Amino acid sequence: MTTEQPKDVRTATDVVLEARSVTKHFPVRRTGKDLLARRRRTVHAVDDVSLELRRGTVTALVGESGSGKSTVARLLAQLYPLTAGEIRLGGTAVKAGRGRSFRAYVRQVQLIFQDPFASLNPVHTVRYHLTRALRIHGRAGSGATELEANLAALLERVQLTPPGQYLEKFPHELSGGQRQRVAIARALAAGPQVLLADEPVSMLDVSIRLGVLNLLRDLKERLRLAILYITHDIASARYFADTTLVMYAGRIVEGGDSESVTQHPAHPYTQLLIASAPDPGRIAGQEAREETGSGEPPSLIAPPPGCRFHPRCPQAMERCRTELPPRFDLAGGRWAACWLYDTAAAPAKEETK
Ligand SMILES: Nc1ncnc2c1ncn2[C@@H]1O[C@H](COP(=O)(O)OP(=O)(O)OP(=O)(O)O)[C@@H](O)[C@H]1O
Ligand SMILES: [Mg+2]
Repeated sequence: MTTEQPKDVRTATDVVLEARSVTKHFPVRRTGKDLLARRRRTVHAVDDVSLELRRGTVTALVGESGSGKSTVARLLAQLYPLTAGEIRLGGTAVKAGRGRSFRAYVRQVQLIFQDPFASLNPVHTVRYHLTRALRIHGRAGSGATELEANLAALLERVQLTPPGQYLEKFPHELSGGQRQRVAIARALAAGPQVLLADEPVSMLDVSIRLGVLNLLRDLKERLRLAILYITHDIASARYFADTTLVMYAGRIVEGGDSESVTQHPAHPYTQLLIASAPDPGRIAGQEAREETGSGEPPSLIAPPPGCRFHPRCPQAMERCRTELPPRFDLAGGRWAACWLYDTAAAPAKEETK
């Protein structure tokens, strides 16, 4: 059982990549006032985030703009040092530095960005991008014939067929969806176990979003990849992800299987998100962005004490203003970080609204 990829055993529940109590604070550039007050301010971008990505599973990370989703992805990709916590790959805590250890990590954990146009070099062809990725990761094969076969296999895997039709194209000769498929093929060239997809379809034309999501789902099943799917759009999480995690102001506030989280949201913030994106057919519709009901997300420089959602929460109680709610387990492996589910406390009747 020491091999990295057991062949026949079904390991759909295997945890590949894990964040344990991961925290990231960014220093804010100090102003003259800060210097006088001897103040060092930080953006609390991510606080105490724990999550598990499993083989053959899509995990959605949903939340408003600025809630820290991309920061979580970058931390999982080891692009930033952590302020606290740890990242575990295959059960071992890893701190990929630079150079060789970082390359070894990147071989396993690949990041896909929102804008495929920005992530592909406009002066190079598809062949160049994919060949380079195969070479960097030592997967080009020996000799020209093997390289051609590997290039063709990559394009087929992302359903750009016949491959010959795409290899010599430049990014501007492709549609947005095709470009994103090339970016995915390039990520696959590393032979990764994990794909971190940061809003992979939000820049794409509505009509081709589903196709790209279906491709990711196909890759999850065929290659048994662990996929983190970052999105603003909780309706698409229901459609596409097995597990959904909801993030608010740097913290994960609810998690569980996508169907229950989206159909029976427990946390008042998740309820607000759902209420503002009521149509499951919306995956083919507009963004949920900027439509998240009343109130504004809080400042992450001085986040509210207690539950960060309390200033916007219609059900806030006195303790929510001062005490940070831990995770409370609900039925079926779900949980919510909300005092409403504190069964040890008196029934939540004395709501002060
Ligand atoms: N390098 C950085 N330096 C300082 N602050 C940062 C940095 N990166 C992110 N932040 C801050 O951290 C917070 C979380 O940002 P992040 O990009 O992770 O959010 P997000 O959920 O991905 O938002 P969006 O949906 O708009 O992509 C924001 O307040 C952002 O301004
Ligand atoms: Mg982002």
